[in-house]
Amino acid sequence: MRWRALPHAHLCAGMLLSLLALTLSLAANQNQVKIEQGSVFAPCDFAAIFNFGDSNSDTGCMAAAFYPEISPYGETFFHEPVGRASDGRLIIDFIANYLGLPFLNAYIDSIGGTSYRQGANFAAGSSTIRRQNRTFYDGGTPFTLDIQTAQFYQFKSRTSRLNNQGKKHFRNRFPRPEDYAKAIFTMDIGQNDIAAVIEKVGKEDSHAVLSDIVEQFATQVKFLYGQGARTFWIHNTGPIGCLPLSLHSIHDPPPGFLDHIGCINFQNDLAKEFNEKLKNIVVSLRAKLPDASLIYVDIFSAKYKLISNAKKEGFVDGGEMCCGYHENGEHVSCGNKGRLGNGTEIFGGSCEDPSSHISWDGVHYTEAANQWIANRLVNGSFSDPPLPITHSCRHSQMQ
Ligand SMILES: *[C@@H]1O[C@H](CO)[C@@H](O)[C@H](O)[C@H]1NC(C)=O
Ligand SMILES: *[C@@H]1O[C@H](CO)[C@@H](O)[C@H](O)[C@H]1NC(C)=O
Ligand SMILES: *[C@@H]1O[C@H](CO)[C@@H](O)[C@H](O)[C@H]1NC(C)=O
Repeated sequence: MRWRALPHAHLCAGMLLSLLALTLSLAANQNQVKIEQGSVFAPCDFAAIFNFGDSNSDTGCMAAAFYPEISPYGETFFHEPVGRASDGRLIIDFIANYLGLPFLNAYIDSIGGTSYRQGANFAAGSSTIRRQNRTFYDGGTPFTLDIQTAQFYQFKSRTSRLNNQGKKHFRNRFPRPEDYAKAIFTMDIGQNDIAAVIEKVGKEDSHAVLSDIVEQFATQVKFLYGQGARTFWIHNTGPIGCLPLSLHSIHDPPPGFLDHIGCINFQNDLAKEFNEKLKNIVVSLRAKLPDASLIYVDIFSAKYKLISNAKKEGFVDGGEMCCGYHENGEHVSCGNKGRLGNGTEIFGGSCEDPSSHISWDGVHYTEAANQWIANRLVNGSFSDPPLPITHSCRHSQMQ
């Protein structure tokens, strides 16, 4: 929603949106949104990206914090493991590129380059919104969303102090104070919360837990708003019931267990319930945070659409995974060595053509799939309101 050049600053949002729908026609090339009637809606020109999430958008946090990633992760684009759970770029990388901003460095990576001038990434693999009663070694995460936003707070306050001291050396490495309101805050988290709910189905009230999770998400959005965040690009959670790793252990499913494309119904139903609650809470946040622009992005539908149309879109079946050994009930995960029952040692290597696969390692998507998805997200086809990412800010925040 933007209204820089509109003569009437008090047009209501609904009118603006329908005006936008009428006047915008999206050009296929990067960043350019062609405006048919004058230059009313200039692109946002974001100063920075601050990202929060899990392995779907971790660009090096877990690799810096614990153990570096191993081959063949990163083989397609970076030609080495670079702390991303894919063979190449993630959706957040394509988004950064589309916005004309550099790839995001992980906040805790002290030797990654490392400029934070145009943003920082707080996302960490295996992160959850809600704190789990587990340590890292039990599959838990130290980097829950509340810790990620606390890290953002520390990042902002410490770099602001350095900026105020006027040291040139720091000025080129960190955002300026005025950049925060002009930044886009992207969020993609929830998948591991759903995984935890799936584990406890029947042992806890899933509905209540999901409600609690989205409440905690909203608390962190409000916290970031209090720290000056104004544009939020919020991804919902993907179809966890379609992840090949969980599908591989299913044999002779009872009728109705799988949907028509072979995904686990009850798992996707939990993801959908989370998404519906997330959407409702985003809508209520819009009323509470009137200076903010909150875009809800339907990653679930984007990913599900890709998986449903795998063949048509040039991919092998969405249930296949590229990396790792998974045959005859024997599993060696991507990048690991293992021994088969008959004694043969085996490496969980990658397939011949990762770009023909949707799933990289059974949980994470290939670069090709990420690109397919990102191409459709950025032009607004999965957003509510249906704004392209280049136009997702409120222009009043950008001056
Ligand atoms: C963790 O354990 C505490 C105390 O038993 C409980 O109140 C809390 O709900 C648990 N949290 C989760 C996410 O299971
Ligand atoms: C063990 O099983 C694998 C996979 O079926 C096969 O390729 C390999 O030749 C077998 N090795 C031996 C020693 O039988
Ligand atoms: C967005 O881009 C995709 C892929 O290029 C295209 O199929 C879709 O129609 C576009 N949607 C809009 C709203 O422009």
